[in-house]
Amino acid sequence: MIEQLEELKSRALEHLGRLDALPALEDWRVTYLGKRSELNQILRNLGTLEPSARRTVGQIANDVKRLLESEFNDRRTQIERTLREAEVARERIDVTRPAKPTLIGQKHPITQTLEEIVGAFRALGYDVVEGPEVEWEKLNFDMLNIPPEHPARDRWDTFYVKSEGSLPLGQMLLRTHTSPMQIRVMEKTKPPVRVVVPGRCYRYEATDATHESQFTQVEGLAVDENLTFADLKGTLTAFTHMVFGPERRTRFRVDFFPFVEPGAEMAVDCHGCHGAGCRICKQSGWLEIMGAGMVHPKVLEGVGYDPSRYTGFAFGMGVERISMLKYGIDDIRLFFANDLRFLRQFR
Ligand code: PHE
Repeated sequence: MIEQLEELKSRALEHLGRLDALPALEDWRVTYLGKRSELNQILRNLGTLEPSARRTVGQIANDVKRLLESEFNDRRTQIERTLREAEVARERIDVTRPAKPTLIGQKHPITQTLEEIVGAFRALGYDVVEGPEVEWEKLNFDMLNIPPEHPARDRWDTFYVKSEGSLPLGQMLLRTHTSPMQIRVMEKTKPPVRVVVPGRCYRYEATDATHESQFTQVEGLAVDENLTFADLKGTLTAFTHMVFGPERRTRFRVDFFPFVEPGAEMAVDCHGCHGAGCRICKQSGWLEIMGAGMVHPKVLEGVGYDPSRYTGFAFGMGVERISMLKYGIDDIRLFFANDLRFLRQFR
């Protein structure tokens, strides 16, 4: 029996040493320490031995039992620790790894150009104001010296808002230019006035590479005593140098707008070819960038300014056009297409 116990002990320990998973360990416990184990059998049969043998064998059997139990516990602790360590190793994260790049938004090229234009005029001391996109007919046309049957209204044909009842300011419409803000500003303030007005405008227009029915303008207005056409030229030339480069030349040619007299169209020598002619300027060497002129006396009178005391100049430019010229973009529709391949070029 003693030999059987010794053999059992070394068999059990050898077996235990080969186990590395918890279910197998539990099987081992049932086999060697369970109720129906060989060892338990021996312990139960001790009673059949004579007293002296019973004591010796009983002692050895109990020693074996205690040894197997403590070896079992050690082995379990060891296996559990190994499993935990493996799990920790599997879940290890490298906190020093660079993070995934986050998508950062950017301003639309029109917004960028708009801010550049407005920034140039702020630097020249202009205030920035905004006005309604839905405007009264009277401010969009009449008070700008464009009477109802004036042919110039065709040039700015637009979307009218259906309205009823007595309308002292005429119909409502989507403003065709930012010029009505000249009226709103002058009606609210006394001279001197120096403002720029960025804003969206609308025209009833067939869309093509250079026309959209929705676009952005920046209007400018300065009114004071002794303002002359020379001030207009100086101001717009300074603006041009800030936005298109300090070496640019400007050209003023006569043009007609009912609300200015004299009226002018301003051009910049092409930054693509320095006047020699290229794709950007369509071989002309010049880029027309805005309308301008001295505020018409009738407009000043209309808002209660005394035209014998005050003079002023006004100008208006299309932001899409300026952006297209600055970056050599050949189709205005790209600004509205929401194509990231186009937009990401303006980061
Ligand atoms: N409002 C004119 C347009 O939209 C531009 C302009 C503004 C011309 C101010 C002269 C003075 O075409």
